Amino acid sequence: MTIKSIIKGCGGYLPEKVLSNHDLAKMVDTSDEWIKQRTGIESRHIAAEDETTSAMAIKAAEDALLHADMPAADIDAVIVATTTPDLTFPATAAHVQAGLGMAHGFAFDVQAVCSGFIYALTTADSLIQAGRAKNVLVIGAEKMSSIVDWNDRGTCILFADGAGAVVLSAEETDEQKGILSAHLHSDGRQKDLLCTSGGPGTTGDAGVIHMEGREVFKHAVQHLAEAVDEALESNGIAPDEIDWLVPHQANIRIIESTAKKLGMSMDKVVTTVATHGNTSAASVPLALNAAVKDGRIKRGDLILTEAMGGGFTWGSALIRY
Ligand code: UT7
Repeated sequence: MTIKSIIKGCGGYLPEKVLSNHDLAKMVDTSDEWIKQRTGIESRHIAAEDETTSAMAIKAAEDALLHADMPAADIDAVIVATTTPDLTFPATAAHVQAGLGMAHGFAFDVQAVCSGFIYALTTADSLIQAGRAKNVLVIGAEKMSSIVDWNDRGTCILFADGAGAVVLSAEETDEQKGILSAHLHSDGRQKDLLCTSGGPGTTGDAGVIHMEGREVFKHAVQHLAEAVDEALESNGIAPDEIDWLVPHQANIRIIESTAKKLGMSMDKVVTTVATHGNTSAASVPLALNAAVKDGRIKRGDLILTEAMGGGFTWGSALIRY
């Protein structure tokens, strides 16, 4: 018997305010047509000014705990993947821990931008397999609207806010279930292609997003193809055995390219990009939550998930739900 990390529950939260492409066309030189055609995005959710990343993370965590039928008292670690922490410190995970009324366990943040959730999930899986934690709340939460340059039409049309969460629990089993494998990569040489213009140790403020879109697109297509191949190869699995692809939601054209590479029809791909936009670390758990809650993803299904973001960072995970 080995220890496996099982997804016990999923949760999500999206802020109330919806910003449409038509709204954006009044702010910058763009159009609904261009945004839809080049990205697949129609609208996105934007947090209220006083709504913090941790506030959204807490709501997603509560939803995941409810779905897992588990009290916060049973959680022994909280990991928040975020690029937009409430404060420089303490970690947003500490705010979440306090918000959940937890006075036990440990909490920390993971920073891998859009790949953050895959990084956090892999970290949680490693803690569980090493016997250091039994029930881990893994959260991806972002207030990307706070670091968007609202005058830059190349980025302000893409990024959005929200939070997604899973409860990951240890189970001793002989079965091939839970997280079957996870694969992380980064290449710091590409750090300037997608970054912010500031930070605590340089400008003293958070800065705004800078992205060389076309270059990032090219790398995303290539790295994600490699990441899904790696997940399949290391498990000896053929693409047609995958029930669901749950990709990072950056651009429908990138998602279609990965699906095509896998020979998967788009009805096996969970897409939320049309109404969520790119919520960075929140995008994968939000997509997972949507497809679990509407009944598409069922217990026993084989899920392939992937993401790519600033750093560059990228990765994949194969999960028997
Ligand atoms: O989540 C982290 C990873 N991030 C990503 O994966 C994002 C990757 N990049 C992308 O999704 C795409 O590169 C974008 C959606 C950002 C841009 O799409 P593109 O097809 O690569 O467009 P482009 O940057 O090559 O620009 C084409 C044209 C340019 O005009 P010219 O130079 O051809 O005259 C841009 O100035 O489109 C123009 N353009 C726009 N036009 C209307 C750029 N943004 C806009 C806009 N509305 N919002």
